[in-house]
Amino acid sequence: MKNILVTGATGTVGRQVVSQLLGAYCRLHAMTRNPERANLPPEVEIVRGDLSDPDSLEQCLDGVDAVFLVWMAPLTAADAAVRQIARHAQRVVLLTAPHKTPHPFFQQPNPLRLLFAEIERLIEKSGIEWTFLRPGMFAANALTWWAPQIRAGDIVRWPYPTAPTAPIHEHDIAAVAARALLDSGHNRAEYVLTGPESLSQMEQLRTIGEVIGRSLQYDEISPDEALRELPFPATAITMLLDAWAAAIGQPALVTSTVADVTGNAPRSFREWVSDHTKEFKLDFEDPIRS
Ligand SMILES: NC(=O)c1ccc[n+]([C@@H]2O[C@H](COP(=O)([O-])OP(=O)(O)OC[C@H]3O[C@@H](n4cnc5c(N)ncnc54)[C@H](OP(=O)(O)O)[C@@H]3O)[C@@H](O)[C@H]2O)c1
Repeated sequence: MKNILVTGATGTVGRQVVSQLLGAYCRLHAMTRNPERANLPPEVEIVRGDLSDPDSLEQCLDGVDAVFLVWMAPLTAADAAVRQIARHAQRVVLLTAPHKTPHPFFQQPNPLRLLFAEIERLIEKSGIEWTFLRPGMFAANALTWWAPQIRAGDIVRWPYPTAPTAPIHEHDIAAVAARALLDSGHNRAEYVLTGPESLSQMEQLRTIGEVIGRSLQYDEISPDEALRELPFPATAITMLLDAWAAAIGQPALVTSTVADVTGNAPRSFREWVSDHTKEFKLDFEDPIRS
């Protein structure tokens, strides 16, 4: 029976990977820096680990055959961590990004591209079997970006209403990850993953309103206002503003990869909202902000 270590197991994608591997023929190890707050199913073995702490990572990797890797640590820790993973496991499935895809949305210079390119280079030269998952925009970004404003009222102040993306449900990223972790035939595959349709940000907000039964208004703000007002790091906002600006004028990239790999069509943005209606409700307590 395969031993699989899921890093980022308490995060958006990792938690889904854990839940989809639960019924599979494998032994699951879920890594977190805070096991006491992990809130993972009791069948999962929770292991304490930090990607930037080699001793803790070494313990998490004991007896492991395959790793789902969500890199959230500084780049300086990556060389040692990738070597450790390659010493223990036969296979790694990395959650990365479509930075090689020639669509303007994915081609803006930013620090994350460099980070991902370097982690991929380290993995490629380590000798381990690898699969790179390259999802575009997560539908779940709406929880960080818009849900706080939607819980506070009907107006969402946000830039670039016409910028299109093809938001992908975390379930579908995890479904591809599960296949790559469990099955053969995914070595050296680079899967560019998207949701099923190109939707402008305004259409996405309208969809949220329709599903939760509220009439939400998109109040367009300028890029400068976004940088001043939105409660996110300036580097993250700048990266997004550049990508949205470049995306305008052509549809978002839509791939068939989720269906090709899993045999199931990717879930729509509307389905994603239906799966998350409680997070948009006025009485929802955001565990990250509370
Ligand atoms: N958002 C998008 O549209 C998008 C698109 C493409 C790619 N991505 C990439 O997807 C990744 C984020 O995935 P996600 O949204 O599923 O994650 P997430 O929800 O932000 O959760 C982050 C996870 O990383 C873990 N973590 C943080 N620092 C760590 C460390 N030093 N060592 C070990 N684990 C650590 C956290 O676990 P604990 O706190 O429990 O330790 C948590 O489980 C990023 O690499 C991002 O660039 C995002």
